[in-house]
Amino acid sequence: MNLKGRDFLKLLDFTSEEIEYLVDLAADLKDKKKKGIPVDTLRGKNVALIFEKTSTRTRCSFEVAAHDLGMGTTYLDPSGSQIGKKESIADTARVLAGMFDGIEYRGYGQSIVEELAEYSKVPVWNGLTNEFHPTQMLADLLTIKEHFGYYKGIKLTYMGDARYNMGNSLMVTCAKMGMHFTACTSEKYFPEASLVEECKAIAATTGGSITLTEDVKAGTKDADVIYTDVWVSMGEPDEIWKERIHDLLPYQVNKAAMDNAGKNAVFLHCLPAFHDLDTKIGKDIQKRFGISEMEVTDEVFESEQSLVFEEAENRMHTIKAIMAATL
Ligand code: CP
Ligand code: NVA
Repeated sequence: MNLKGRDFLKLLDFTSEEIEYLVDLAADLKDKKKKGIPVDTLRGKNVALIFEKTSTRTRCSFEVAAHDLGMGTTYLDPSGSQIGKKESIADTARVLAGMFDGIEYRGYGQSIVEELAEYSKVPVWNGLTNEFHPTQMLADLLTIKEHFGYYKGIKLTYMGDARYNMGNSLMVTCAKMGMHFTACTSEKYFPEASLVEECKAIAATTGGSITLTEDVKAGTKDADVIYTDVWVSMGEPDEIWKERIHDLLPYQVNKAAMDNAGKNAVFLHCLPAFHDLDTKIGKDIQKRFGISEMEVTDEVFESEQSLVFEEAENRMHTIKAIMAATL
């Protein structure tokens, strides 16, 4: 398997074998890190980390992984560069590619990261766009593999806004890996029809399947993985909270949903999560709408079935694998 020089923009660009290779490489790098065996094979290289939206996990994962691999990093924060304001994406790509060996980009439209990659002669990695969050997918697959030992046949139910980066990416991932994806949400939040069709066609070749349902009982029945994400994503206006709470509260991941899932079901969430009142936004929402938990109840979040912190750690090992494989 040779992925040298490849961009990592969305999983649709990769074969199932390539995805599996990256997850297995991450597992190996994780094992080595736990044993204290250094893997600093990219000494002397440098990577640029562009964040037009905020981040905890993705930024820290790229920084720690790059340092572990022996590389230097430069972080460009949401306001601290010329990108998009005084300088185009095409020009930025050519400037940064002259100084760095790889470029991570988190921002808005997928077309921006695609353009960055088109004009960059070094690999570009998508650290989240409105449409896709591919680095998160490798962490989720590693977590599923560690827990269940396999992906094929796993039933994953996604509850919440399935039209956005997480719903789209999980649907693609399940299709590619022969898993059964269910979007369990109000019809308004179903993924875009053309992507659904594309994923159904992929799933037909891998043994996976794609289901869209508004029925919580049917959608969560016997699921192996119940997955959710915030109801309002970065970059969306504050005014939509009211509508989202109204529409998505029936699809909150709570004990009833977990109890209806498979006996050994686990809970995953890309994080950050609103499961209590220990955040500024959480408190504000409670004042405005009277609810203290949103997409997941604290009971589920803190339960034995919740693998969210293992999943978060796996962001680092999988991002390390992407850089090690493409550089
Ligand atoms: N899951 C995730 O991408 O987290 P951050 O926004 O903290 O990077
Ligand atoms: N849908 C979320 C994912 C955060 C990791 C967002 O885009 O804000």
